[in-house]
Amino acid sequence: MVNSRFDESASLHDAFKEHFLIGAAVNPTTLVTQRELLVHHFNSVTAENEMKFERLHPAEDKYTFENADRLMAFADENGMAVRGHTLVWHNQTPAWVFEDSSGGSVDRETLLSRMKSHIETVVTRYKGKIYAWDVVNEAVSDAGGELLRPSKWLDIAGEEFIAKAFEYAHEADPNALLFYNDYNESVPEKREKIYALAKSLKEKGVPIHGIGLQAHWNLERPSMDDIRNAIERYASLGMKLHITELDVSVFKHEDRRTDLLAPTPEMIVRQTERYQQFFRLFKEYSEHITSVTFWGAADDYTWLDNFPVRGRKNWPFLFDKEQNPKPSYWDVLEVARS
Ligand code: GLA
Repeated sequence: MVNSRFDESASLHDAFKEHFLIGAAVNPTTLVTQRELLVHHFNSVTAENEMKFERLHPAEDKYTFENADRLMAFADENGMAVRGHTLVWHNQTPAWVFEDSSGGSVDRETLLSRMKSHIETVVTRYKGKIYAWDVVNEAVSDAGGELLRPSKWLDIAGEEFIAKAFEYAHEADPNALLFYNDYNESVPEKREKIYALAKSLKEKGVPIHGIGLQAHWNLERPSMDDIRNAIERYASLGMKLHITELDVSVFKHEDRRTDLLAPTPEMIVRQTERYQQFFRLFKEYSEHITSVTFWGAADDYTWLDNFPVRGRKNWPFLFDKEQNPKPSYWDVLEVARS
C-alpha cells in the first residue's frame, strides 16, 4: 500500500523526467527512515559515505562491501540509477594506503598500484550497475596561486595521480561515465582552476566525461551569476555536468547562531526563492546537466547538523523534518511544469 502522505503529491523525479535525474545521498539509516520518500521522489542514489575508500577498503587485504551492496540492492529493487562516490580523495582514505610496512611513506609505484587495485576491485564489482563515478574528489586547491591541493596522493604520486585514477576506472568499466567532482565550484577563482584541470585532462586524452558541481550552497552565495558562469564555463568543455551534492544551508557563512529550533519565516522565503532560481537555471541548461543529486533528502537528517557550527541544526532540503514538502518543493515542481 502506498503511504497516504504521498498519494496526492507529484513525484519530483517524474516532474523532471525530460530534463535530468533527481538523486539523493543516502546512508544505511536513511535507507530505512526515508525509504518511502526516496522511492517516491528520487530516481537516483549516491552513497553518502559507504563507497568511500575507508569504508570499502579498511586494510590492504580487506574489503567491506555489505553496506554498499545494500544500497545497490535498494536501487535495483526500485529501478534507480546509482552514482558512485568516490574513488580517490584526500579525506576518508585510510593511512595504510600511503604507508609501507614500517610506517614510512610508500613509493610512487606502490601507491599507484594500490590505487589501481582499489579502483579495479570496486569499479568491477559494480560494473554495468553504477553508471557514473566521481573518480577524483576535491583535488583542486581553494588557496590562491596553487592549482592542486596538497595531499598524500599529490606528494607521493605527483599530479599524474589524477589522470591515472581516470585511466584505471575506464579500464575497469569502459561504459561508466567518469567525473571530476569539487566544491566552491562556482567561485570564479576556483572555477578557473577546475576548468584548467579538466581541460588539460581532456587534451591529454584522459577518459574524463564530466564535471561534478557539488553545490553546497546557502541563502546568499554563490550568486546566480557566478553559478551560471560556472555552468557555462564547464559546459564549454563539451562535458556532462552533474549537480552532485546540492543543499541550501539556511545560514550565511559567517552566521554562528545556535538558538533556532526551526528556520525563521524569512529563511524559508529566501530558501524557496533560491531553490526556484536554481532549478530554473538547471532546466535552462538541461542539455548539459543530466543529473541533480541532493546531499540528503529531507531535513530530518543532514550532514550540516552540527557542521560547521556545533549544536546547530540546519534545514537545507525541499522536505521538512517530518519529510513533508516545504514551500520550496512546490515552487520547484512549478518550475518543472512551466
Ligand atoms: C564533501 C564530499 C562528500 C561529503 C561532504 C560532507 O562534499 O564530497 O562526500 O563528505 O563533503 O558530507
